[in-house]
Amino acid sequence: MNELTYRLPQQRVLTTALPGQKSAALAARRDAAVPGAVTPALPGYITDADGGVLVDADDNSFIDLASGIAVTSVGASNPAVVEAVSEAASHFTHTCFMISPYESYVAVAEKLVEIAPGDHDKRAVLFNSGAEAVENAVKIARTYTGRPAVAVMDRAYHGRTNLTMAMTAKNVPYKSGFGPFASEVYRAPMSYPLRDGLTGPEAAARTITMLEQEVGAENLACVVIEPIQGEGGFVVPAEGYLPALAEWCRANGVIFVADEIQAGLCRTGDWFSVDHEGVVPDLVTVAKGVAGGMPLSAVVGRAEIMEAPGPGSLGGTYGGNPVACAAALASIGQMEELALDGRAHQIETVARGVLEPLVAETSGRVAEVRGRGAMLAVELRDADGHPDAASTKAITAECLAAGVLVLSCGLDGNVIRLLPPLVISGNLLQEGLDVLAEAIRHNL
Ligand SMILES: Cc1ncc(COP(=O)(O)O)c(C=O)c1O
Repeated sequence: MNELTYRLPQQRVLTTALPGQKSAALAARRDAAVPGAVTPALPGYITDADGGVLVDADDNSFIDLASGIAVTSVGASNPAVVEAVSEAASHFTHTCFMISPYESYVAVAEKLVEIAPGDHDKRAVLFNSGAEAVENAVKIARTYTGRPAVAVMDRAYHGRTNLTMAMTAKNVPYKSGFGPFASEVYRAPMSYPLRDGLTGPEAAARTITMLEQEVGAENLACVVIEPIQGEGGFVVPAEGYLPALAEWCRANGVIFVADEIQAGLCRTGDWFSVDHEGVVPDLVTVAKGVAGGMPLSAVVGRAEIMEAPGPGSLGGTYGGNPVACAAALASIGQMEELALDGRAHQIETVARGVLEPLVAETSGRVAEVRGRGAMLAVELRDADGHPDAASTKAITAECLAAGVLVLSCGLDGNVIRLLPPLVISGNLLQEGLDVLAEAIRHNL
């Protein structure tokens, strides 16, 4: 594997109490200018970032185990991405692909068509955010099938726009007060091996029964599913669940949409997380890690489905912005050159080595270490076996105070998730995991 050369020292250094003076001053400015509904996790305001570190205004250097929520897989200032972005911007920052097209949009579509699951004829259309890609996948599925209903899963997260809020499960903070929501969205139970104890085929049968009895396949345009759930708790469905659901969709003319926005692009050790079970979705949504931090998203899928909407019916002013497209080509290029799929597997091996012993050590209060590749999580229970949100909060806070950024997730707020940049150095990863393990021991 080629190694990335880092620009910043890959080290955890706290030079001040947190937040430092400069970050505190920025937080005060923020309070006066930005609504409190936008709530940062880290107390430090970032001035630089590279590889596995985030450096704040007071020169504190944090270990980044979050990647800006699974975005900076190739690093936050990957030289190839930076060069591609400056080169593209020096020519033109925007023309609007719908008005004056350019090659990089086509090249990104070609690349996504190449790496998306399946060897059938495909097309790709580009947007800006993940939610926008999900909305467009639904538009495409509805046009192709002529059916209205959309099925989503328990605990799903698909975004914060009106339709994707309806598709997202968690009320606070994502939905409360923001309704009314879009109609014709139906929520089905998904496989959650730790909690339901069902095999994949059993869990799929439960999902399918609900869809048949409460929605009707003939009304259903698409099933939209995160093959590994993100915000909902990094839930990996039991083996066989996804293939059985995809098969039912195929048999019933329902479009199977894999929302790979968090799990895709090498994050789980393959291009897409459905690849682990050889599932070939009809449509795939892509965003986050695809463009090295620049806003870009896409829907990729079967040509006959993607061609259903008529001329001019898909697009948007900024969709497939040329600077973001240049970043995506460089970012995907880095994934190939640095073999970041393999790196995700290495990260999993190291992380499991540190975290799995905690299950026995804490007598099951660490209920499970789960995930794939560099999308890993730890689910916590209290002494009575209930979801332990309080300890989760205390552990993430303790990590932060020690200079390690980890995030939580899950409907119950009791899951600690790890999303390190795939280019994080071995030493820094180990150090970050050791800090997390110590905080878990300390709090449980
Ligand atoms: C699975 C999944 N879908 C959709 C989204 C929404 O993406 P965005 O925040 O870019 O709109 C996210 C964001 O976290 C996600 O994880």
